[in-house]
Amino acid sequence: MTHLVSPSILSADFGNLQRDIEMLNASEADWIHVDIMDGVFVPNISFGFPVAEVAKKHATKPLDVHLMIVEPDRYIKRFADAGAYGLTVQLEACPNLHRTVQFIKEAGCRAGVAINPHSPVALLDDIIADLDLVLVMSVNPGFGGQHFIENTYKKVSETRDLVAKRNSKALIEVDGGVDKSNAGKLYTAGANVLVAGSSVFASGNPSAMISTLKHA
Ligand code: DX5
Ligand code: ZN
Repeated sequence: MTHLVSPSILSADFGNLQRDIEMLNASEADWIHVDIMDGVFVPNISFGFPVAEVAKKHATKPLDVHLMIVEPDRYIKRFADAGAYGLTVQLEACPNLHRTVQFIKEAGCRAGVAINPHSPVALLDDIIADLDLVLVMSVNPGFGGQHFIENTYKKVSETRDLVAKRNSKALIEVDGGVDKSNAGKLYTAGANVLVAGSSVFASGNPSAMISTLKHA
């Protein structure tokens, strides 16, 4: 079973972003999660291309870019050019999701789709075979440091079952409120990739916390 950790730089110190990314390079982190928020799809604005490019410049690990934006098709090429390894769009932001997924692949990135806490896993039924990643949101997107929603375990199990049923190769990622108290249970439910922002960067020893999450 694949168990990866993707720390979110949303909780990094932006005055010392190079330092924090170098810490991630030296840690057991597998990917680096980059949260893009537009103030429209979610009630918060994070950062855009310049910060993503700084992350790419210093990171030795793949960038796992999570687009919490409306009309993501308009920016897929630019994030691909900025160095994204994976591009994940929100299902709720994509009326033509199949086309969006094809755009991501044509841009040379791994294609991911995120579902919000209220969106049923069944909405992925006819797209999951085309995906490299499903991101199950375990908080309502927009902010770091929110409380984990317990219904996520059920959704992760349902996603695991759907991946098997549709013979999909998609990894299952969970994002929001992930910490050492729920990481093991998420892996047991079927999660492959854990995103963690505040639990990593607010801990006294971020690198050790990444290892704790990876081996939970
Ligand atoms: C939330 C973002 C998350 C966020 C997670 O909308 O998508 O990636 O950085 O932060 P924590 O781990 O603090 O909940
Ligand atoms: Zn995210």
